[in-house]
Amino acid sequence: MEDNPSKPISQHTKAQRVILFPLPFQGHMNPMLQLANILHSRSFTISILYHQYNSPDPSKYPHFSFHLIPGGLSEDQADKDDPLHLVRLLNTDCIRPTRDCLGKLLSTHDDTACIIMDAMMYSSQAVAEDLGIPRITLRTSSVCSFLAMATLPVLRDKGYFSMIDYRREDPVLELPPLKVKDIQAIRIENLNDTLKIVSNMLEGTKTASGLIFNTFQDLEEPNLANLYEQIRTPTFLLGPFHRFFSAASSSLLAQDRSCISWLDTQKPNSVLYVSFGSLAAMDENNVREVAWGLSNSMQPFLLVVRPGLVQGSEWLEFLPNEFLEVTGKRGCIVKWAPQQEVLSHPAVGGFWTHSGWNSVLESICEGVPMICSSFLGDQMVNSRYINDVWRLGIKLECGFERDEIESAIRKIMLDREGQDIREKLVCLKKKMDLSSKTDGFFGPIAKRFI
Ligand code: UDX
Repeated sequence: MEDNPSKPISQHTKAQRVILFPLPFQGHMNPMLQLANILHSRSFTISILYHQYNSPDPSKYPHFSFHLIPGGLSEDQADKDDPLHLVRLLNTDCIRPTRDCLGKLLSTHDDTACIIMDAMMYSSQAVAEDLGIPRITLRTSSVCSFLAMATLPVLRDKGYFSMIDYRREDPVLELPPLKVKDIQAIRIENLNDTLKIVSNMLEGTKTASGLIFNTFQDLEEPNLANLYEQIRTPTFLLGPFHRFFSAASSSLLAQDRSCISWLDTQKPNSVLYVSFGSLAAMDENNVREVAWGLSNSMQPFLLVVRPGLVQGSEWLEFLPNEFLEVTGKRGCIVKWAPQQEVLSHPAVGGFWTHSGWNSVLESICEGVPMICSSFLGDQMVNSRYINDVWRLGIKLECGFERDEIESAIRKIMLDREGQDIREKLVCLKKKMDLSSKTDGFFGPIAKRFI
């Protein structure tokens, strides 16, 4: 490196290359590679550092250079059912190989301006510091969920995680409009492990040269004052990235395009699209409730059943036979869909989602009202905000229960409620388009540094 790395990025004379380092999960890989494409379209040279586990396909990005971390996380090491364990491994056992690989990369590329790494790769911050490379953190989820995570230690000290003092439906006074049941579910399995990971992630964002969120101001306005009070790092809301580049090329599973021809045969706004993302896992009982809720609603549906979604099943064997007969008439089931294309299809009138952040942004941009479930991490907070604050969908409060599911589907697909949400989404999208027209993608950064 010829320049002083402690200089602001914009002052580097040869600052052309950006190294991006995604967390190897679908919901994190997509926004990181989209950001890489955006930066490339603005004349930056792009290098991607990656692990063998869930590796991206370099042939889809001939304009980037890819650098596999030898001895990094492999498919054999990964326990696919435990994302928390994987995050832990990436931040412990994988650090030495990461340092070796990044060090080599920097020694052969003296045009590197900075590294952008996923906020969950918190241990790599020390690596970047040791190697003297400025580090920017990408948080792939919402500001509201980030703030909720930041408050977890306070909530633990107040006893919110023991069932003794609070009931599930009680409000969390420190984090309105969340309820006790929302934050108790954030902790996943092991509260102490979760808190340790969250506090490392927060520390990493506070000490970075910059923090980027894949979200947008018009949506997150109610939380921004709080965010800027807690985080002094220069922070930029640059999303939704998928408006510039689709997530299709970073899909880790093959997208079954047959569902698009099926959608072509359906009436406008008539189909409910159902997908629970790349990590969610359900038991047999929940799947049965999903099936009966869909069946009883009498609405056409496109259902994604990812292999691994139902614990202990290969694919559809736990679905009741009567339900499978129904799907022949008004349903379509695939293992993985071209989601962005599905959401933009005129036949799709609603999205029953797990409230993963990419899915939420994709739904908002296509003007599709949501029915919200949630399984882990940020999804609880996202779904509460969609229902209570943004009013862009309906949260299923009882988990998976066929009557509640049927009623929510009817409200979204047939009633005034769904129509009102559609109109609201049109206004939100107009605002978003207007601010991106005025500011451009780099507007927020330019305002801060230039
Ligand atoms: C995870 C967490 O669940 C989520 O809460 C967090 O914000 C990011 O990491 P994931 O479960 O993968 O994400 O959900 P989501 O964030 O919605 O990302 C899924 C991506 O896969 C989306 O970009 C979506 O378009 C794509 N997808 C999903 C498909 O291409 N096909 C499908 O059938 C389903």
